[in-house]
Amino acid sequence: MTALAAADPALRPHHPPHPVGLACWGDAEDESVLVVQDVVDVTHDVKTFTLASPGQHLFHFEPGQFVTLRLDVDGTEVLRSYTVSSPPTRPHALSITVKRKPGGVVSPWLHDTVRPGSELRVQPPLGVFSTSRHPAPKYLFLSAGSGITPLMSMTRTLADLGRTADVVFVHSARTPADIIFRRELEALEAVHPWLRVVPVVASAGDEPGWSGTTGRLDGAALATAVPDLADREVFVCGPAPYMEAMRTALLAAGLPEARHHQETFSFEGLGLPASEQLDGGEVELVADADADAAGGAGADDALAAGFAVQLTRSGCTIRCGRDETILQAAFRAGITPPSSCSEGVCGTCKTVLVDGEVDMQHQGGIRPREIAMGKVLICCSRPLTDVVVEA
Ligand SMILES: Cc1cc2nc3c(=O)[nH]c(=O)nc-3n(C[C@H](O)[C@H](O)[C@H](O)COP(=O)(O)OP(=O)(O)OC[C@H]3O[C@@H](n4cnc5c(N)ncnc54)[C@H](O)[C@@H]3O)c2cc1C
Ligand code: FES
Repeated sequence: MTALAAADPALRPHHPPHPVGLACWGDAEDESVLVVQDVVDVTHDVKTFTLASPGQHLFHFEPGQFVTLRLDVDGTEVLRSYTVSSPPTRPHALSITVKRKPGGVVSPWLHDTVRPGSELRVQPPLGVFSTSRHPAPKYLFLSAGSGITPLMSMTRTLADLGRTADVVFVHSARTPADIIFRRELEALEAVHPWLRVVPVVASAGDEPGWSGTTGRLDGAALATAVPDLADREVFVCGPAPYMEAMRTALLAAGLPEARHHQETFSFEGLGLPASEQLDGGEVELVADADADAAGGAGADDALAAGFAVQLTRSGCTIRCGRDETILQAAFRAGITPPSSCSEGVCGTCKTVLVDGEVDMQHQGGIRPREIAMGKVLICCSRPLTDVVVEA
C-alpha cells in the first residue's frame, strides 16, 4: 500500500485482508473439487451457482477475478472461465453467474446438469481486473450482458466494506428482463447514497412501464449520464465491440488511458484468436506483418523464417511464423488445443514448455510460480527458438 493510500481511507485497496490463521482455498496451486450448494435463476437465461469447499476452506480472491472450471462434458474435457460474482467479503462460499449461450458446449450443460450436490473441478482464482489493484475515490463501472459479473463482485465488496467511494454503474442489456442482478442493484442503490445505477436497454421488451434509458449507449449518452467520467477510475466489461466503443468514447471525453481498465469474455469466433474475430462472428484472415515488412515477400517466407514447434500431445511438429503465437500456428495447422480468451487472461491454454524459449506477453493468466515451473500460455507466447510444448 502506498503512503497516500494508507492516509486516505477512500484510497485503500477495496478487498478484505487475507483471513489470518485459516486455511484459504485460492492459495493452493492446483485445482480442487468444490461442491455446488445452490443454483438460483437470476434471469430467464442466467443462473448463479454457489460453491463451497468440502474441506471448509475459506475463499480468498480479489473482486473481479475469475476461476476456471475443468469439466467432463459428454466424455470430452473442456475448460471455461467464469468470474466470481460473489464478493471476497463473504469468504465461506464462491458464486459464479453463467449466461446460457445457445449452441454452446458448457453454459447449457451447466444450466441443465448441475444441481445442489454436484461436484465441479475448479482452478484457483486469477486475473488483474480488480478495484483492489486500483483504489480510487470515484469509480465508473460499465458493463453489458454477462459482463456485469466482475463489476457486481466489486460493488458488493464496496457495500460490504462500508466504502465511501462514489460509484456510477452503467449497465447495458437487451431488455429490462435481461438485466442481471436488477433487483439487487435497485436495493443496493436504495440504501447506499454513494451508488448510482444507470440501466440502459435496447428495447423495453414486454415491460411497457419501463422508465429507464432506452437506446444505444454511445459517447454522447455516456457523457450525459456521467458528466465527470474523466475524473473516475473506469472498469469496462462486455463483448469486444461494446468495449471498443466505450474505450473510444471514454478517451475522447478526456479519460486518461491509465484510468481505463477492461476485460472481455465474449469470444464468438469458435476458438479462433481474438485478433481474427469480427463483430457477428465473421472471420477475417490477419495480414502477416512480417510479410508486409519484407515488401510483400509472402506468408510462406515469413513462416519459413519462423520456428519449429513440436506439440507433444498432438504428436506433430508445425511451423510458427515470427509474429505468430503458438496457438495461432496450431489453429492454422488445424489443431485446436484448449483455449478461450486468446489474450493471456484466462489461463485455459496453459501448458508446459518442455524445451526452447518463448516471448510470453500475458495479462495475468499465469502465476509467477507457474512460470518458474516452466509453464506457458501458448495464446500469447511467440517462439524465440525452436520449441517443444505439451499441447
Ligand atoms: C476471464 C473470463 C471470465 C468469464 N466470465 C464469465 C461470466 O462471469 N459469466 C458468463 O456467462 N461467461 C463468462 N465467461 C465466458 C465463458 O468462459 C464461456 O466462454 C461462455 O460460457 C460460453 O461457453 P460455452 O461453452 O457455453 O460456449 P462455446 O461452446 O464456447 O460457444 C460460444 C459461442 O459459439 C457458438 N458456437 C459454438 N460452437 C459452434 C458451432 N460449431 N457452430 C456455430 N456456432 C457455434 C455458440 O453458439 C456460442 O454462442 C468468461 C470468460 C473469460 C475468458
Ligand atoms: S486462451 Fe486465455 S490465457 Fe490463453
